[in-house]
Amino acid sequence: MIAYPIAQIATERFSRPEVPPTMSSRWADDQLHRKAKKEGYRSRAAYKFHEIQRRYHLVRRDDNVIDLGAAPGSWLQVIRSLTDGMVMGIDLNYIPPLDGVRLLTGDFSSPEITSRVHAEVPVVNVVVCDAAPKLSGNHSYDQARAIAIGEEALRFTDQLLKRGGNFVVKSFQGDMFDQLVGKVREKFLAVHLFRPNSTRKGSSEIYIIAKNYRG
Ligand SMILES: C[S@@+](CC[C@H](N)C(=O)[O-])C[C@H]1O[C@@H](n2cnc3c(N)ncnc32)[C@H](O)[C@@H]1O
Repeated sequence: MIAYPIAQIATERFSRPEVPPTMSSRWADDQLHRKAKKEGYRSRAAYKFHEIQRRYHLVRRDDNVIDLGAAPGSWLQVIRSLTDGMVMGIDLNYIPPLDGVRLLTGDFSSPEITSRVHAEVPVVNVVVCDAAPKLSGNHSYDQARAIAIGEEALRFTDQLLKRGGNFVVKSFQGDMFDQLVGKVREKFLAVHLFRPNSTRKGSSEIYIIAKNYRG
């Protein structure tokens, strides 16, 4: 595994292995779930995007933003509040309607979806991807699928993102993670690894934050 300089890794719990949740971590998860419900978010994942935005300022006021793997839509809710530009969400699953958000159902890695986005969104300033595979229970298989989704998100982004644009993709530490980070680095001027505090304790989830697309 590549040894990243400490400054690039914005978390103190970065390399913990998967561990089962404890009573207190389950309590913290429940709290966040209740908070999301109370604040009108469709899921607790909203707080992850808030943390990412607070730290990295990915979305600016006029940006057009595409969200890959967007269901049920809590990142879309946050993004809608951050920009006056176009916001589009894509998922394999149905996403219930959201004011001012264009929703597509389908596989974001398919050529049909790429062409539809291309036709509908003249300029793409930011691509975000919180997509995750359906877990099979086979750790190696699930890890390989998760990395493949990250690569598909990067391919999508490479076809549509405006030069200078930003990208964030969820990934999981383990096999092939370093290679995925390397591929993102080839395309962006600045790349950071970030683990939000609102990520479940014990999860190997981590976000690759990429700014300033080289084009
Ligand atoms: C963790 S959820 C996303 C949560 C979302 N960010 C939110 O805040 O509500 C992951 C989603 O990725 C979607 N997904 C996985 N692979 C996909 C693909 N190839 N195309 C579209 N959606 C995909 C799944 O259907 C699932 O709804």
